[in-house]
Amino acid sequence: MGAQRGEFQSRLGFILAAAGSAVGLGNIWKFPFEVGNGGGAAFVVVYLTFCFLLCFPVMVAEIAIGRKTNKNPVGAFKDLGYHNWAFVGMLGLFCGVLILSFYNVVAGWAFGYFLEMVSGNFAIGKQFGPFTSNWVKIGLYGLLFMGTTAFIVSGGVKDGIERAAKILMPSLLAIIFFLLIYATTLPNAMKGLEFYLVPDFSKITPSVIYSALGQAFFSLSLGMGALITYGSYVSKRENIITSAAMITLADVGIAFIAGLMIFPFVFYQGADTAGGAGLIFTVLPEIFETLGPTLGVIIGSLFFLLLSFAALTSTVSLLEVPVSYVVDEHEIPRNKAVWMIAGFIFVIGIPSLLANGAVPMLTNFIDTGVDFMTWVQFVANDSLLPLGGFLITVFTAYVWKKHNLDEEISIGYPGYEGSFAQKLIHFGVSYLAPVILGILFILTVLNRFFGVSLI
Ligand code: PFF
Repeated sequence: MGAQRGEFQSRLGFILAAAGSAVGLGNIWKFPFEVGNGGGAAFVVVYLTFCFLLCFPVMVAEIAIGRKTNKNPVGAFKDLGYHNWAFVGMLGLFCGVLILSFYNVVAGWAFGYFLEMVSGNFAIGKQFGPFTSNWVKIGLYGLLFMGTTAFIVSGGVKDGIERAAKILMPSLLAIIFFLLIYATTLPNAMKGLEFYLVPDFSKITPSVIYSALGQAFFSLSLGMGALITYGSYVSKRENIITSAAMITLADVGIAFIAGLMIFPFVFYQGADTAGGAGLIFTVLPEIFETLGPTLGVIIGSLFFLLLSFAALTSTVSLLEVPVSYVVDEHEIPRNKAVWMIAGFIFVIGIPSLLANGAVPMLTNFIDTGVDFMTWVQFVANDSLLPLGGFLITVFTAYVWKKHNLDEEISIGYPGYEGSFAQKLIHFGVSYLAPVILGILFILTVLNRFFGVSLI
């Protein structure tokens, strides 16, 4: 076995770190506008169903593979004796690098907005375009964010990732609850909650189902080996099933609360719920302004601090995936690996950084009408993650085989054999996830890259 590998010190530490990976921009930035576009509560119902029936088994499989092998996603497949499957880990690594390259840019915006809010510049909402075109400024924010991420990851599993999660996650919870309580006291809050909570099932269309599934998968950090990596640092004593259930609940819970908090703000000002990706960056600052100079600064700064914290625990997990690979497989010291890879990914992210106004050719990438950063998301989030999830479940169920999965899970959960959880996991990894993720992948590729829309 290789040199000293890190290990999470406590169960709580692992759960907070993995929940930190899951809870991110996906929950607070993307989820509310997906709900807005998808017609409100109907989207939420479909989303929750996917999280528990389909994503949960995939999460269990990823953690089990990681813990069984104590390896990064590439090394894990090799360690199990399936060298031909190591490409799935490589695909995950590639996907992680792509995701971090653009994710860090948006995280940098969030941090920039935090600073703007602190200085009381609410007009930034109307200047979102000029803000994202100012490449010097957002370049610096991006650099700062990547630097902070690298600093945490260079501390290692226990003293870096786990410690940061133990500070950031409780802070995040405190801020979100504070904002939630405040939001529900606003006039029209109830209208916002109604839109969000009362489902109109006629709004469940194939395209709502499609986006809810993609969102669930991205939000739970599945399909690229992030949880294989974190699973590889988990002790054998832990119960993988209850841990995965807690991570899923935390992720779903925070997304749900983010919606509970944001829709009262949106309805308070009568803003458009389908505000799109800009909902948070354009609409909210104006709403914060109406709260008056002092309260506006407090609420606005806290909101964007929340977004930055959520993003940070996710960028940490995204960076840890390639770092663990380089450290395990190429025996490069962690510190060196971290800064090299972080620098490399920052550079790969420069086109995304410039794709929101700074460089016209990237803003309208090869005349597609879509910017480069969105293209990266088409490739990574929408295509490679479902493909990765499909391959991981096929591998688990039909190559590694379910009895090996069961054996690994049973170590920390003696009552697992014959339990309901086992049936759910078997059904999920053998049938539900491969079939649905396979379909999702095909539909996405046809739609995004060949312009064929079947739904
Ligand atoms: N789950 C994160 C979010 O919702 O923002 C994004 C993410 C992090 C995806 C880590 C994949 C991953 F491996």
